[in-house]
Amino acid sequence: MKTLLKVAALFIGVGVVAMQFIARPDRTNPPEDARVALSSRLRVPDDVQAVLDRSCSDCHSNTTRWPWYTAVAPASWIVADHVEEGRRHLNFSVWGTYSVKRQAAKLEMISAEVDKGSMPLKGYLMLHGDAALSEADKDRLCEWAGALSDSLLGRTE
Ligand code: HEC
Repeated sequence: MKTLLKVAALFIGVGVVAMQFIARPDRTNPPEDARVALSSRLRVPDDVQAVLDRSCSDCHSNTTRWPWYTAVAPASWIVADHVEEGRRHLNFSVWGTYSVKRQAAKLEMISAEVDKGSMPLKGYLMLHGDAALSEADKDRLCEWAGALSDSLLGRTE
């Protein structure tokens, strides 16, 4: 039995090592162009910026932080996938390339996702406990995003 366990452990060990050579996702961030960044287009108060930086920017900007475990497969594959998909849906670093209508829609989505509690992603929170949003953070983000999308759409209340 003991031998069997050792053999199994060896196979898993070899498997994990082998995984490291299969595919190495690219962990370099695209260059940052301040002229099209969210903060140069819309008013982002410091407290809102702090929440976005802490809880969203790793997947929704070009300024992703890549801790050591993001270099180790299979975590590296999952993280790279989330970052790629996250940026495709919403990227604060290229905000200025969105039309005004799209910006307003994205702001509404931010408010909706945060309100539902579906962002940040659950898996991310397991490793980044500090990214969890407090009720006050959620209220602040929703209030900010809601007011901005209204003003972008030229609505009056
Ligand atoms: C671990 C990566 C990750 C983090 C952190 C994260 N997101 Fe996301 N987000 C994604 C991915 C992946 C998608 C696309 C798939 C989906 O909707 O689940 C997405 C989708 C979205 C969308 C939908 C955009 C669209 O056009 O469909 C919004 C809005 C959003 N996120 C807001 C946020 C906000 C606000 C935060 C911070 C409070 C945040 N996200 C944190 C990965 C992340």
